[in-house]
Amino acid sequence: MAQLWGGRFTKETDKMVYAFNASISFDQVLYKQDIQGSIAHAMMLARQGILTEKEHRLIEEGLKEILREIECGELNITEEFEDIHSFVEANLINKIGEAGKKLHTGRSRNDQVALDMKLYTKIQVEKMDGLLKELLFVLLTIMKEHLHTYMPGFTHLQKAQPTTLAHHMGAYFEMFKRDRHRLKGCLKRMDECPLGAGALAGTTYPLDREYTAKILGFERPTLNSMDSVSDRDYLIELLSHLSIIMMHLSRFCEEIILWNSNEYQFIELDDAYATGSSIMPQKKNPDIGELVRGKTGRVYGALLSLLTTMKGIPLAYNKDMQEDKEMAFDGIDTVQNCIALFTGMLKTVKWKKERMEESAKKGFSNATDAADYLVKKGVPFRDAHEIVGRLVLYCMDKGGAIDDLSMEEFHRVSPIFEQDIFEAVSLKACVERRCTLGAPGKEAMEKVISIYETYFEEEALL
Ligand code: ARG
Repeated sequence: MAQLWGGRFTKETDKMVYAFNASISFDQVLYKQDIQGSIAHAMMLARQGILTEKEHRLIEEGLKEILREIECGELNITEEFEDIHSFVEANLINKIGEAGKKLHTGRSRNDQVALDMKLYTKIQVEKMDGLLKELLFVLLTIMKEHLHTYMPGFTHLQKAQPTTLAHHMGAYFEMFKRDRHRLKGCLKRMDECPLGAGALAGTTYPLDREYTAKILGFERPTLNSMDSVSDRDYLIELLSHLSIIMMHLSRFCEEIILWNSNEYQFIELDDAYATGSSIMPQKKNPDIGELVRGKTGRVYGALLSLLTTMKGIPLAYNKDMQEDKEMAFDGIDTVQNCIALFTGMLKTVKWKKERMEESAKKGFSNATDAADYLVKKGVPFRDAHEIVGRLVLYCMDKGGAIDDLSMEEFHRVSPIFEQDIFEAVSLKACVERRCTLGAPGKEAMEKVISIYETYFEEEALL
């Protein structure tokens, strides 16, 4: 057990208390940010004349050496320290002696941990954004290839109207595009540096907070030292954005799982992204989709957990806040893994075009088009709806699709049908005529695709 605060204590900490209180088992992932923050703090202290140039040089070199040693495995982060901050500081003192003891001047672990977490979160959000961008790219590629891959569109999981695979993928493009936008907003709002807030009420040293904010890559310093050390809003916001990403992935997975089933057979998963059964030799299971769908629960859990942890905390820092880490880390790792795996799975899916088209034909998804046809011939929509309803009933009895009826059969239901009905209810015509912006018709889709191409070129649009 190695601590930074032994002075006013007369007894050793109870072992269980020590273990319960310690956070090094999980906050060690922050070692880089902790060192980065300390280097900036020391640089500013020297600039303000609080450290001598020599002390500053020793501290900076020592910290860089510690970083190098951790990265090449020479220095192990051991659990005899309470947290990563104590570990780095103790190692620095061990390495450079007296000067090391001055690093913590004008700083508290409260503003230190707030800084480390923000630095870490910023990097992870940027990484996540890159993964989402890759997913969007895969979606766009599929869209471009499948403008004429017809499939049923569903409502209530019942075949509703025909659409295309490009159109269906486009819906997910919109969802993940919004997700990137939300992440960007979160990054913008959290872009304030808490370093220099001290324990809660600033310090009496003449710290230059603008300077540390700038060299650490923040837009500006925070404006209230109490809020600086006790704000976890950005993590809650992030976890809610991550929850929405997982909800999107989970819905997509649900469709992949359905489409991969024997009943649908719209797709076949690549062998690299499917698993077998230990007992049933015929099985090829969509475990990745199921796991991504399942992991949604952990991310929602992390959000609820942190919201609950924060709800009753008086200002300013309280140890409850240490609980933010495992939840945030797990949420971030889970979402990054899920996006990466999902993207790989989607990229390698085999789309069974014929099956999709056949399914669209069979489900009366052109019934609205048949009604619209009658409307164009002067029948009021409500009557047209009734006539086509009867047509569907006839087809169901007979066991066929609207497209398969003969002229004589059409006339049995209504004399208004003419030869051009065949073209009007053909799957291709039904889709291609839908050319309002946002609809699946080729022209409309091409317009949207070109907007998406610009989206990738101009990051400003995000
Ligand atoms: N391990 C602590 C955390 O993650 C660091 C801050 C400790 N501050 C304190 N006053 N005990 O929140």
